[in-house]
Amino acid sequence: MADNGTTGTAVVTGASSGIGAEYAGRLAARGFGLVLVARRAERLAALAERLRDSTGAAVETLVADLARTADVARVAERVAAPDVSLLVNNAGINGYGPFTEADPTLLAKVVDVNVVAPTALARAALPGMVARGRGAVVNVASLLAFAGSLPPGPLPHRAVYAGTKGYMVTFTRTLAAELAGTPVRVQVVCPGLTATEFHLSAGDSPVEGERQRVHDEGGMPAADVVTASLAALDTGEVLCVPGLADAGAVDGLAAAELGLRAGPGASVAERYRAG
Ligand SMILES: NC(=O)c1ccc[n+]([C@@H]2O[C@H](COP(=O)([O-])OP(=O)(O)OC[C@H]3O[C@@H](n4cnc5c(N)ncnc54)[C@H](OP(=O)(O)O)[C@@H]3O)[C@@H](O)[C@H]2O)c1
Repeated sequence: MADNGTTGTAVVTGASSGIGAEYAGRLAARGFGLVLVARRAERLAALAERLRDSTGAAVETLVADLARTADVARVAERVAAPDVSLLVNNAGINGYGPFTEADPTLLAKVVDVNVVAPTALARAALPGMVARGRGAVVNVASLLAFAGSLPPGPLPHRAVYAGTKGYMVTFTRTLAAELAGTPVRVQVVCPGLTATEFHLSAGDSPVEGERQRVHDEGGMPAADVVTASLAALDTGEVLCVPGLADAGAVDGLAAAELGLRAGPGASVAERYRAG
């Protein structure tokens, strides 16, 4: 990563398992100090000890529930410190289920963890990064950000989750344009199905146990997702899709968006005028 010679500290949310734990290991190996954020204190402590032993990295743990405003504020305070050169907004929950039957409180938590918290943390991190002229924010979204055109099968019951990930994609790409004149980078990574314990919980309760597990659906190894994300960070790619062979598809997305925005905007389209 281009960073004026020193790597600084990386804050990784959702570091207690899956993709976040993988980011932590890889960033420690790259020389970053780490702040590991999640709710499961024992898992964070065990990972921190492993990484200190294996890499010599300075590793802090910050136990926080990112659905809680006060906890987000504590993490935001750490993220805003001048040693932080990378924020990885990775924590996420799915809340899968039919929208009309889903617990409204759980749906609000999906939005809080997947949207409100990462937005607050990016807001805390970026002013200092811009002022220091170095730093990056990586937001972990999902290929389900692009689920709006899917037919009812095979992937229903994900409207709020997909919506939160769509937010992260548009938020990041728009922010990237805003920061284009600075050395600070933002990236949104959109993994497809990934081999983690993500689907072992559809609620907001952490998966129990000390050992990381993998849901039955399998998917891409978390290590490959992180390999793609870090490579894309090195090259300055804003929208990273780890499994996408044809990077030109991202240009196709931009072209389709331009087509939607291309109308003059001041007058209503002909097909809406009848009646
Ligand atoms: N696995 C997939 O198929 C897939 C595909 C596309 C995108 N993603 C995205 O990848 C990211 C990481 O997920 P993963 O696959 O690695 O699943 P995971 O193993 O379940 O990891 C989720 C992480 O988020 C943390 N987290 C959840 N709720 C939290 C809260 N309220 N406060 C703080 N931390 C919280 C969890 O830690 P605690 O439980 O200890 O708090 C855990 O470390 C998520 O944003 C997910 O949406 C996953």
